Amino acid sequence: MRPILVTGALGQIGAELVPALQERYGVERVVASDLRPCAPAIGLYERLDCTEPQMIADVIRRYDIGRVYHLAALLSAVAEARPQDAWNVNMGGLRNLLEAARRFGCQLFFPSSIAAFGPSTPRRRTPQVTIQRPITIYGVSKLAGELLCDYYFNRFGVDVRGLRLPGLVSAGAAPGGGTTDYAVEMFHAAVRGERYACFLSANTRLDMMYMPDAISAIIELMEADAAPLRYRNAYNVTAMSITPVELVVEIRKHAPQFVVDFRVDPLRQSIADSWPQSLDANAAREDWRFAPSFDLAAMTADMFARLSAKIAAPKDDGLESETPHADARID
Ligand SMILES: NC(=O)c1ccc[n+]([C@@H]2O[C@H](COP(=O)([O-])OP(=O)(O)OC[C@H]3O[C@@H](n4cnc5c(N)ncnc54)[C@H](O)[C@@H]3O)[C@@H](O)[C@H]2O)c1
Repeated sequence: MRPILVTGALGQIGAELVPALQERYGVERVVASDLRPCAPAIGLYERLDCTEPQMIADVIRRYDIGRVYHLAALLSAVAEARPQDAWNVNMGGLRNLLEAARRFGCQLFFPSSIAAFGPSTPRRRTPQVTIQRPITIYGVSKLAGELLCDYYFNRFGVDVRGLRLPGLVSAGAAPGGGTTDYAVEMFHAAVRGERYACFLSANTRLDMMYMPDAISAIIELMEADAAPLRYRNAYNVTAMSITPVELVVEIRKHAPQFVVDFRVDPLRQSIADSWPQSLDANAAREDWRFAPSFDLAAMTADMFARLSAKIAAPKDDGLESETPHADARID
């Protein structure tokens, strides 16, 4: 197998996907890349701006890359604050990676999102194939991305595969400015014994998945036999459909004193209200045996164990900062 390139590798998903790929295929076969300077001890690393086609071509040629996990993007809340940048990075970057995949014969992974749906989509048991009229620039870029990936598969035979990921919960790198970040923030506050102000209303129901399940799904989809794949871009995947108040109830089993205030952020609330409440992931189960391991209780127990260990560890241990990216906040 030719080496692997990961774009946006210093983000929430990349921070866990890169080590998983290194473990599976070997450290010397995985090239991590991102806009930012290299993190210590990540293995092979290139500073790579996905809006620069020449930089992409140079890296792919230099390492003889055969598979790309294209994670670089601006997430929902950041994208809404900077819509022109979001279009340039999310669509321009994807187009550049698809072109490179066509030229150099690479397999490509594209992460779509529940944001690719909109308010006219059926919100419960949202089907694999349904109405998609997103109202956010992030959702528009994800839906257009799904269509562009389908085009490159049908027109040029590029082996591009994708998932519609729900909100991801992770004990690793901080989230990058998404609408479901409240879940990760709640865990951090609870483990530290702090009070938390939730930016979504108590009963906002959304799909979520624990990061280890997302990493397994991404790797399994890319390794799956191509023949049974009915949907290239992109498969619905989910592990739980939860509200902030349901998460608080579960967290209180580990931190009984945990207190949450609800201070709704109108922008992120309106984004959440336009998204599905529970995806139908049957196509993924049938076509490539998608099977997440973590439900809400298992995820909460694991998050507590991992975050408690992290907080107890010495400060200079090389672990990622728990503060969200500086550009992730919107006021
Ligand atoms: N985290 C989630 O809950 C979630 C859910 C659905 C879909 N996704 C998708 O998965 C992908 C990765 O998400 P994430 O949570 O790791 O995001 P993140 O914001 O944590 O990381 C994105 C990374 O992309 C990098 N980046 C931004 N612009 C770039 C550019 N021009 N060139 C190269 N790198 C650039 C950033 O520096 C950052 O490290 C994104 O496409 C996102 O839309 C994420």
